[in-house]
Parts: sequence; C-alpha cells; structure tokens
Amino acid sequence: MTRRPDAPSEPLASFAKKDLVDIGSLTRPEIQLVLDTAESMREINQRTIKKVPTLRGKLVANLFFEASTRTRFSFEIAERRLSADSISFSAAGSSVSKGETLLDTARNLMAMKPDAIVIRHQASGAPHFLARNLPCAVVNAGDGTHAHPTQALLDAFTMRRAKGRLEGLRVAICGDVLHSRVARSNVELLTKVGAEVTLAGPRTLLPVAVERTGARVVTRIEDAVDGADVVMMLRVQKERGGGLGFPNDREYFELFGLTPERRRLAKKDAIVMHPGPMNRGVEIDSSVADGPDSVILDQVEAGVAVRMAVLYLLIGASGDE
Ligand code: CP
Repeated sequence: MTRRPDAPSEPLASFAKKDLVDIGSLTRPEIQLVLDTAESMREINQRTIKKVPTLRGKLVANLFFEASTRTRFSFEIAERRLSADSISFSAAGSSVSKGETLLDTARNLMAMKPDAIVIRHQASGAPHFLARNLPCAVVNAGDGTHAHPTQALLDAFTMRRAKGRLEGLRVAICGDVLHSRVARSNVELLTKVGAEVTLAGPRTLLPVAVERTGARVVTRIEDAVDGADVVMMLRVQKERGGGLGFPNDREYFELFGLTPERRRLAKKDAIVMHPGPMNRGVEIDSSVADGPDSVILDQVEAGVAVRMAVLYLLIGASGDE
C-alpha cells in the first residue's frame, strides 16, 4: 500500500476486514498488524499536537447500551485524534427507552451514513448481529460475557511494550473468569500468539468446559501467579451475578485477592494488569494496584492508540477517498 501524506509515519499494510467483532476472526499476522499500527498511533499521541487528518470526512457512531468509562472515552478520543466526525449514543435518553429495537436503532443511524459503528451491548452477539445486517464497519466494544476484542488488543500491546514479546510469556488471568469477556478475548489472543495462559478462579466462577480454551486452569491463585511474567486480575462482576459465586468480599479477598505476598510469587519483574474498573480490596489490594509493577494506567493509555489503529485499519486504510 502507498502511504498517504496524512497517514501515520510508518508504512502500514492493508487490513482486509469489514468489522472487528471478536479475536477469533483475526489471524496472528492481523493481530501483529494492529499492534504495529498502534505503535505508530502511540507516536502521534506523544506529540504536542495530537491530531492527524487521517479520517477526515469519516463518521463514527458510538452506541453504548452499557456503562463504560475507559472504552467509550478512548474510542471518542481516538476518533478525534484521527479527525473523524463522531456521534455518541447512550441507551438512556434515546428512543431505545421507548421500545425501539437494536436493529431499528441501527438502521435509523445507518440512514445517516456512518462509516463505522462502535457498539457495547449487554447481549452477547449484538455486534455480530449488526455486522451481518449493516454495510458499515462494526467494532465490538464489549458484548455481554462474550468478547472485548479491543481490550485484548490493548492488553497485548501493553504486555509487548513492557516485556518486548508475547510469545512464551507466562500470563496468569485470575478472578471472575465466568463473566469476563476480557478473559475470553485475552485467552484467544494470547494462545494465538504463543503465550502460556493460566486461568484461576473459584470453581463457581469458572465456565463449564473452561479447559477447552487452551489455557491451563487452576483453582488457587497462588498456582497461577507462581513464576508468571504477567498477572492480570479480573473484576468480580456483581452486576452479572459474580457476587453469588462466593460468600462475601472479605472471604474472596482472603482466598483470591492479589496481595503483595501473592504478587511476590510471580517473577521479580512481573507486571500487574487489570482492565478496570477495579474493586479495590476485593480482587486486588490497593498497594499492588498502585505499586511499581502496576501497568494499569498504561493499559488505559494503550487503549487510545489501539482504538486509533483499529479505526484506521477498518475505515481509513483503503485509500478510497
Ligand atoms: N475495561 C473496560 O472495558 O472498561 P470500561 O467498562 O470502563 O469501558
């Protein structure tokens, strides 16, 4: 592909995809391409003027049917940094509250000719449904307990920056695996790129047939963290019933919380991750969350670069203007 003058500074290959709805639909080279493109976007984010005209004239609609801080703001910032026009939609205050269906809502938005729709929805499969029914690009910003592909990509980007590689990394993902779309997408991505993943959680918060994911599965956090390069803690998702899997927060923290003592079981130079929002004192001790090994805010920073990369590759790299 010939690089346009307004494109980020590194030459970028094309990305022959209409949508990004899950990690399963990405090949290892495509994952690599997103991460490499995000490096170029990160460079833009370090500049004094953090804006390029790459998506000028493109319209992105952000449809958030579920609460979000990090994902929603980072998509909006990504769109602005690439000079796209964007509109943001919340279910509350829209005609969804009058009973309009997802498809009708999306078709009506489609009549306004967006180039991409970014959707977060409580129903697993909602982004796939829109991707099948709409001609524009659809990006999954988290659907039910199913997938959160841009989170897995930003997590991989953060790990690669901190550790210099993904292949061979020992990654422990601990907590409420049952309700976690973040865990599901991370396992898919990390096993695809050759990392060794261990999932840990109380038996009540592990999905049925979790072993089929390709990850090692344990029920003691100590067994997962021991010798790990990366320790990723998961939020207990009380809004999805995660709190029913154990007696109370204090007991959960005692058995599964990442304390300084448990962190010391990992490699000396291990990094600590959490997708946010955190339940401090439940799945993670504040001294670890805010400690020297924590890359939790690096993950948030990476979210902007990765989402810029995804939007660029889906709707900006075709050179069709
Ligand atoms: N990690 C994540 O998806 O955070 P938000 O729910 O705040 O977007």
